[in-house]
Amino acid sequence: QVKDMSQTESILVTGGAGYVGSHTIVELLNHGHSVIAIDNLVNAYALNDNHKPESLKRVEIITGKSITFYNIDITNRKALSNVFQMHKIQCVIHFAALKAVGESVQMPLMYYQNNIAGSSTLFQVMQDHNVKKIVFSSSATVYGTPQFLPITEEHPAGQGCTNPYGRTKFFVEEILKDVCISDPEWRVILLRYFNPVGAHESGLIGEDPSGIPNNLMPYIAQVAVGRREKVNVFGSDYETPDGTGVRDYIHITDLATGHVQALSKINEPNFKGWEVYNLGTGKGYSVLEMIKAFSKSSQKEIKYELSERREGDVAASYADASKAKKELNWTATKDIDDMCFDTWKWQSANPNGYQ
Ligand code: NAD
Ligand code: WQD
Repeated sequence: QVKDMSQTESILVTGGAGYVGSHTIVELLNHGHSVIAIDNLVNAYALNDNHKPESLKRVEIITGKSITFYNIDITNRKALSNVFQMHKIQCVIHFAALKAVGESVQMPLMYYQNNIAGSSTLFQVMQDHNVKKIVFSSSATVYGTPQFLPITEEHPAGQGCTNPYGRTKFFVEEILKDVCISDPEWRVILLRYFNPVGAHESGLIGEDPSGIPNNLMPYIAQVAVGRREKVNVFGSDYETPDGTGVRDYIHITDLATGHVQALSKINEPNFKGWEVYNLGTGKGYSVLEMIKAFSKSSQKEIKYELSERREGDVAASYADASKAKKELNWTATKDIDDMCFDTWKWQSANPNGYQ
């Protein structure tokens, strides 16, 4: 049976070539959704600019399904508009953003332009085409320094953001709430991720940071594979059981299925306005526990050195994920050993990422 794609209702995934986007597309396709992905490839690898990004080619291998891809910048209103004209979009899942915390301190205007102006442009185009359902990638970073643990969705957000990147996430949340207030037809789900790690169990797709990884897990993985000498442990005098920072690491596949569940929720007839959900496991692990677990999974010695705290870091952060359990019927199923094992499978099979 041949389907007329223009008549099929699709999910538009912005930033679809990235880490969270590519893994989410796998789950969307596996759940029978049709997907249109857009990405400007600023943080994704493709052989040349007009080619499909490598991550999405591999998603097609994993799923046996095809993805329509456009190399488009979300700040380009005209180009975005064309996509909405060509395809029947049911809902948007919006991942496209710059996400390096340190870089955002150096280049705040670039972050505000890309993440806020880009999002606002996307929402205008959605409005123009009467597409009023969106799932947005927010971050636990909007909670700032936790006032209590575990962090519930009611925890104050915004004021405590310690960097421009975090503020872009908070501002976009606020923009979407204003849009809902202005027009009751809008339906918005804000997902606040804790620390996504791991890779698809096939080892074909995973996290591929450019340059020196900012985040712990890809750094550990590069030490294990021999690309870097040792992990610098940022701070060993925190008020945590072993003195190192504690985070709620969540397997990327669990995070991805959270989006599929959010999509079901947003399509419920009685869904109104906006909802916020934490996506985490509810458990916290320290830096040293992560290094140990990775060493076990990879059977590699991971050298590390205790060093100074990193500016802007908090001692501990982990989610109360009970709202997502209750309302999205979603819960994380994979543990820290799965996270390390799958990261290692990806990293050892692709020591230099997608290149
Ligand atoms: P990523 O960099 O791998 O993916 C983002 C994708 O967006 C990239 O492929 C990039 O090329 C694309 N992009 C950026 N600006 C664009 C633009 N103007 N137009 C079109 N495409 C653009 O990052 P990720 O880890 O997959 O993160 C996805 C989303 O989740 C981001 O919004 C990020 O802020 C959010 N988030 C990530 C984490 C995390 O730790 N990975 C945690 C919380 C929230
Ligand atoms: C985890 C722990 C570090 C690297 C960041 C963003 C946040 C969100 C997720 C997007 C901390 C320690 C790290 C290293 C280390 N991203 N560490 N050595 O800082 O919790 O969150 O990514 O929204 O906004 O801030 O994650 O992986 O950088 O750090 O000791 O080389 O590992 O101090 O305790 P973080 P992370």
